[in-house]
Amino acid sequence: MDNKRISRRKFVAVAAGTAAAGSILGVGGLRWAEASNSVKILVNGQAVNSAGAMIKDGITLVPVRFVAEALGAEVRWDGATQTVSINTGAKGAAAAVNQGTPPDFPWPWAELDPDEVARRGYEFYFSKGACANATFQAIVGLLREKVGYPWTTLPDNLWLHGSGGIVSWGTICGSLNSAAMLIHLAAGKDYPVLVDNLFKWYCEYEFPSKRYESYCKFPNQLTTVADSPLCHISVSKWSRAAGVATSSDEKKDRCAKLSGDVAVYTLELINRYRKEGNANFAGTWAPAEAFSHCRGCHTTSSVEVGPSQQGKLNCVPCHGDHTK
Ligand code: HEC
Ligand code: HEC
Repeated sequence: MDNKRISRRKFVAVAAGTAAAGSILGVGGLRWAEASNSVKILVNGQAVNSAGAMIKDGITLVPVRFVAEALGAEVRWDGATQTVSINTGAKGAAAAVNQGTPPDFPWPWAELDPDEVARRGYEFYFSKGACANATFQAIVGLLREKVGYPWTTLPDNLWLHGSGGIVSWGTICGSLNSAAMLIHLAAGKDYPVLVDNLFKWYCEYEFPSKRYESYCKFPNQLTTVADSPLCHISVSKWSRAAGVATSSDEKKDRCAKLSGDVAVYTLELINRYRKEGNANFAGTWAPAEAFSHCRGCHTTSSVEVGPSQQGKLNCVPCHGDHTK
């Protein structure tokens, strides 16, 4: 009866590794046992030494030394007094890690294979919740494998809401939205110039690229230039040119390729930034000639020369040009 109650409550105890190999000490009382189960331990997504971890009488026993050291703490065992001392003050990072707070940006980075990122971007569009989450996971999945923490702190479905320009509102392109976040994480305070660069490229690029021809569902699709970061304009323009509905399989294939294309460009942008710093990015964005004069009178700070406006969008597709 006693045993049943314990196992149902799934009580978790932490145990200390001692000099006696193969045995562990449960903290809630003395409890010697031979290691019999294989229990895996992940600290912030990374495997730590789990020698001696086991489930005993419904209690999961985990060697405290390896877990505590992975969290940056120092562990001491005093055999004479049978005392385990854990000191988190020993290393600076320990306090922050213990609260589960990821570090400030920029996060550690690794160069990734662009073909692998493209393929994941394309495939994840269908398997992991469309554009925003596909672009996000194409990069973050590989960073989790190559770098681990802190990329392991981002949940799989963080960007589900981004699809269709945020729950199909057609506002910001989902891939751009999650890519901007990745740039912020990888570039820290320099993110605005990189995001400007990405958005400018997106507005001018002939989507989709041809790098998916050997495995995509609809090879050789026609391309359009969105001239806007808005999902509404990007998708509607392409769909009309292709003569298909925005809900069609052809359009999905186009947006799957676009998810990969945005991921690859973002990757290359961040790689360049991590090598060269921000010098080659500052000042790379300027309004295209079609609407640079609009911004001269319609500024964000004044109503004297013309009604104030907000944003870096090309005005002409929506407003035309009243000065001509
Ligand atoms: C020389 C300055 C100047 C330039 C350049 C200019 N505007 Fe204007 N714009 C104005 C002023 C002044 C008004 C207010 C007119 C009014 O109240 O009758 C205005 C009004 C507008 C309005 C409000 C609606 C309307 O028609 O009253 C829009 C929208 C607009 N401009 C868009 C644009 C766009 C787009 C461009 C570039 C293609 C542009 N403007 C270029 C000065 C300018
Ligand atoms: C995606 C379409 C779109 C783009 C791009 C866009 N606008 Fe607008 N803008 C609108 C709409 C819609 C309104 C609201 C019009 C209304 O209801 O009065 C508006 C409002 C404005 C207004 C306030 C006056 C008004 O007509 O209400 C100004 C000024 C203006 N836009 C200027 C610009 C300028 C300059 C640019 C380019 C830098 C620009 N817009 C880009 C769609 C757009």
